[in-house]
Amino acid sequence: MATARKAAVFYFSGTGNTWWVAEELCRQLNEKGFNSRAYSIENISAVNIASLIEESSLVGFGYPIYGSDLPQLMKEFIDDLPQFPGKDALVFCTQWLWSGDGAYLGASMLKEKGFAVKWGEHFLMPNNVSVSVIRLPYTNNPDKLFQARQRTARKINRIVTHIIAGKPYRHGFNCLAYLLGCMQRVPYRRYYHRFQNDIGINKEICIDCGECVRLCPVGNLYYSGVEVKTKGNCMLCLRCYNFCPVAAVTHMKRPHRPERGKPYRGPIENFNPAVLISSTDEF
Ligand SMILES: Cc1cc2nc3c(=O)[nH]c(=O)nc-3n(C[C@H](O)[C@H](O)[C@H](O)COP(=O)(O)O)c2cc1C
Repeated sequence: MATARKAAVFYFSGTGNTWWVAEELCRQLNEKGFNSRAYSIENISAVNIASLIEESSLVGFGYPIYGSDLPQLMKEFIDDLPQFPGKDALVFCTQWLWSGDGAYLGASMLKEKGFAVKWGEHFLMPNNVSVSVIRLPYTNNPDKLFQARQRTARKINRIVTHIIAGKPYRHGFNCLAYLLGCMQRVPYRRYYHRFQNDIGINKEICIDCGECVRLCPVGNLYYSGVEVKTKGNCMLCLRCYNFCPVAAVTHMKRPHRPERGKPYRGPIENFNPAVLISSTDEF
């Protein structure tokens, strides 16, 4: 039985941006009397998910955009959900520049599960692609990260206001957004499998700390007993690349360029990606 004004927000976050948005969304909802909590989909059991959704009057879903597509783990999470006819839902994605229909894409999958997606939004957050091959600008500057968070917090406020008022608000749910999304998604999906083997380890630099193995959401990295190896099933979140303490993770055989500073380290200073994954007891 759903409790009035209770929200559960499920998210996947590779490097912290979506985590921050999910937490800020819940903080603002809580302030307005909506009992809300964010859950990383890497840190929750299947039994909890169904009962949490059952007892919530609003369910949120958040994910980062990868080539105008959903991360593989989020797709699998939604695919595995049972039917929840008429359950109110909110879908959001985080992105650096644009995705076209990033939120609509998740909403259309949730619609098939019976959800009534009344709220959808795209939040601009810092770019987390800091690899050497595609040299996109990124930052770890605390002031710039603060500005980005402030801007996003204002946008979150707008959607929270609509939720509290019970008024639907959906951004990018139109044909133009869909076409723009397809422009990027079609080639991305076509070449996705080729990208899944791009992560490697520079064995000369690696200190065998095991952080990349612990943090990988899909078990692509593993310790062979002698060294860290990869299986070729990377989902491209770049968590291992960005959070390796010695930048020993390579992309397309290229190491991180030291002149670019540290790889992207998340939306707040000293962000600890361990908050995104299961507690070690559950391994
Ligand atoms: C493989 C990959 C593809 C991405 N594609 C896009 C994109 O199409 N459009 C965009 O604006 N940002 C894109 N980004 C940037 C991320 O969506 C953005 O930084 C996001 O907020 C990261 O969220 P997270 O920290 O929760 O993982 C991409 C990032 C990665 C790793």
